[in-house]
Amino acid sequence: MSTPVIEARELTQIYPVKRGLFQPPAQLQAVNKVSFAVEAGRTLAIVGESGCGKSTLARMATLIETPTSGALTLDGLDAVHPPASERKRLRRTVQFVFQNPYGSLNPRKKIGTILEEPLKINTTLSKAERTEKARAIMAKVGLRPEHYNRYPHMFSGGQRQRIAIARSLILSPKVVVADEPVSALDISIQAQVLNLLADLQEELKLAYLFISHDLSVVRHIAHDVMVMYLGNAIEHGPKERIYARPLHPYTQALLASTPRVDAAKRERIVLRGELPSPLNPPKGCVFSTRCPFVKDRCRAERPEKREVDGRLVACHYAEDFLAKAA
Ligand SMILES: Nc1ncnc2c1ncn2[C@@H]1O[C@H](COP(=O)(O)OP(=O)(O)O)[C@@H](O)[C@H]1O
Ligand code: SF4
Ligand SMILES: [Mg+2]
Repeated sequence: MSTPVIEARELTQIYPVKRGLFQPPAQLQAVNKVSFAVEAGRTLAIVGESGCGKSTLARMATLIETPTSGALTLDGLDAVHPPASERKRLRRTVQFVFQNPYGSLNPRKKIGTILEEPLKINTTLSKAERTEKARAIMAKVGLRPEHYNRYPHMFSGGQRQRIAIARSLILSPKVVVADEPVSALDISIQAQVLNLLADLQEELKLAYLFISHDLSVVRHIAHDVMVMYLGNAIEHGPKERIYARPLHPYTQALLASTPRVDAAKRERIVLRGELPSPLNPPKGCVFSTRCPFVKDRCRAERPEKREVDGRLVACHYAEDFLAKAA
């Protein structure tokens, strides 16, 4: 096994949230001790409902936010407390593709300018060299040469996401964090962008953190899957294991709600009740207020993540679910 290009150990983000004027701020645990590692050429999909901490994790992984605690290593470098001499290299190692291809591109700038800007700031390349690089990356993502002089509004959503992907690749990063990159696109366009991301990964040996609220979207692109709930990773392991035999009841519920999966073979678990507030998470298992299999122990004791059937899972009764599935 080669060394991971991005590695997180117990990454945690706690936001202070204002209450009354004379009260101390409340602590919102957006991400709680999340660990993962991704090697070059591999994709970790991070999946879960809105509010479970996916974007917070993405902001920590891309150095936009500093974690409250935990460690992050990028290409072997400490990314939380980097040595000053390595900051620049670190920032080039990881790049971000946002969900919204409409909001993330400056409408006043031509595509060529948008793509060359990072080169202007971060490299000593000449104007001619920058243009050459921009044109090369445009070709790689399936944009035509005449697009160089056009403005973002002249493009469709799918093309704009191609531009955003091109921009994320212009500094040759090793890690790309894509936060819901196809969620705003029509279904017919989603597959094209996913295929493009897969081709680019193979060619450039990129490591992806691919974030989605939808397990069916990541099915083809992921190598590993991490399912999050209320800031916690509740199941994490190889894609094949998780799709074939989800062990955490929350993963089972998510999979049962995706239409493309062979739901007939397994018991349909329907998510009921509201997502608890992250300001006031359940004391025991984070999923205990919505789990159809909840027992007294679940409300009292938080299950630790442990390895069961080739993946990590945080449920007291994972072995029972495994026995039932077999
Ligand atoms: N800057 C912030 N200050 C306070 N709370 C935040 C902040 N950013 C996110 N949160 C809260 O953290 C939790 C996780 O949010 P987020 O990471 O955006 O989830 P997701 O991307 O999975 O929808 C949510 O409860 C959200 O309201
Ligand atoms: S620990 Fe209990 S409440 Fe939590 S997922 Fe497992 S069975 Fe459900
Ligand atoms: Mg989000």
